[in-house]
Amino acid sequence: MNSTAQDPWLLTPGPLTTSMATKEAMLHDWGSRDATFIETNQRVRDNLLKIAEAEGCHVCVPVQGSGTFAVEATIGTLLPRGGKALVLINGAYGKRMVKIIEYLGRTCTTLETPEDTPPSLEDLEETLSNDPHITHVLVVHCETTSGILNPIKAVADIVERHGRHLIIDAMSAFGAIALSAKDIRFDAVMASSNKCLEGVPGMGFSIIRQSVLEKCKGNAHSLSLDLHDQWVTMEETKQWRFTPPIHVIVAFDKAMEQFFEAGGVEGRFARYSNNRRVLVDGLREMGFETLLPDQLQAPIIVTIKMPADPAFDFQVFYDRLKDQGYIIYPGKLTVAPSFRIGCIGALDESHMNGALDVIRQTVADMGIKTGSPIAA
Ligand SMILES: Cc1ncc(COP(=O)(O)O)c(C=O)c1O
Repeated sequence: MNSTAQDPWLLTPGPLTTSMATKEAMLHDWGSRDATFIETNQRVRDNLLKIAEAEGCHVCVPVQGSGTFAVEATIGTLLPRGGKALVLINGAYGKRMVKIIEYLGRTCTTLETPEDTPPSLEDLEETLSNDPHITHVLVVHCETTSGILNPIKAVADIVERHGRHLIIDAMSAFGAIALSAKDIRFDAVMASSNKCLEGVPGMGFSIIRQSVLEKCKGNAHSLSLDLHDQWVTMEETKQWRFTPPIHVIVAFDKAMEQFFEAGGVEGRFARYSNNRRVLVDGLREMGFETLLPDQLQAPIIVTIKMPADPAFDFQVFYDRLKDQGYIIYPGKLTVAPSFRIGCIGALDESHMNGALDVIRQTVADMGIKTGSPIAA
C-alpha cells in the first residue's frame, strides 16, 4: 500500500500516484485574486514553457478541466472555420481529436494506421503534397491507447517543409519525453497537470506559438474554451477569467519544483525508462507478451496481450492486485484483447518489483501456468 495514505499504487496512465509533498501543498486556501496565488500561477506557466524550451516564441495558456478540455480548446481556437485538419490516428486519442473537430463542424481528413503501427511518413508526405487545403496536422506524441511512441520529430519536419501548422497532443508524454521547441516546430502542444509532471487532475494547458495565437481572435466556438481570450485576459490582469482550480495549480507548482530537483525531463525519462525495463523484464519472465516491440514502446504505459490460459480472468486478476495495493488498467485496443500497466507517477523500481511480486503470487494462486497469449 501507498504508505503515505494507505492508498493503492496507481499503475495507470493518470491520474497518478503523487508525492506526499504534492498532496500536502493543497492543505490551504488561497484567494484567486491575491498576489500569492497570482505569483504561483505565473511560475507554473513559466515553468511549463521552460520544459518545452519554448520561452520567447510560445506562450502557455492554461484551462480548467481535464486534458480533453485543453485539446478541444486548442483545436477550437487555432483551427479556423475555413481551415482543414489532417489527423494522424493510431489509437483512441487521435480518434478523439477527429470527434472534437466534427463537433466543431470543421473540415477534417485522416490517415490511420493500426494501434501498434506508427503513422506512415510516406503517406503524410503524399497527402500534404496532394491536398493544398490542409492547413493543420494533428498528431499524438505517445498514443496512450497502446503506449506507442510516435515519430514526432519526423512528422514535424514534414509538416514544416509543407508550410502547414502542427498541433501535438503530448498529454501522456510531456515532461518525460523530450519535446523542445528548439528542435521541433509546432504551433501547439497540449498536456495536463496529472500526467508525467505528477500533479493532481484539474488543469490542462496548451503551449502555443504567440504569433499564431495573436491571429486567433474570434475563431473559438466556445467562450470558456477560447484560449485567445484566456491568454489576453491572463496577460492583462494576471488572473484567470473564471474560477481557477487553485489547489490543482498550487499542487502542480509543488510537483514541478520536485520535477526540476530530480533532473527535469532527463531525470523523469530515466526513472520511467527504468520502471518500464523492470516491469517488462519481470512480466516476460512469467510468459506475458507486450503488444509492442521495445523500440516502439514509450516509457509511459505498457500494453500486455491477454493470456490464453483459461484460468486467467482479467477482472479476478485486477481485483486481487487491487486488494494487494496495486491498481492496473484495462485495455483500450480494438485489435486485440489486452490490459495495461503504467510506469509513470511518483513510483520507482521498488514499486515495479512490488507489483511483480504480487502479480507472480496472483498468477500462482489463480492456477495460471503461463502469461503467454498463445494457447498451449
Ligand atoms: C494522449 C492523450 N490525449 C488525451 C487524453 C485525455 O485526457 P483526459 O482524460 O485528462 O481528458 C489522454 C488521457 O489519458 C491521453 O493519454
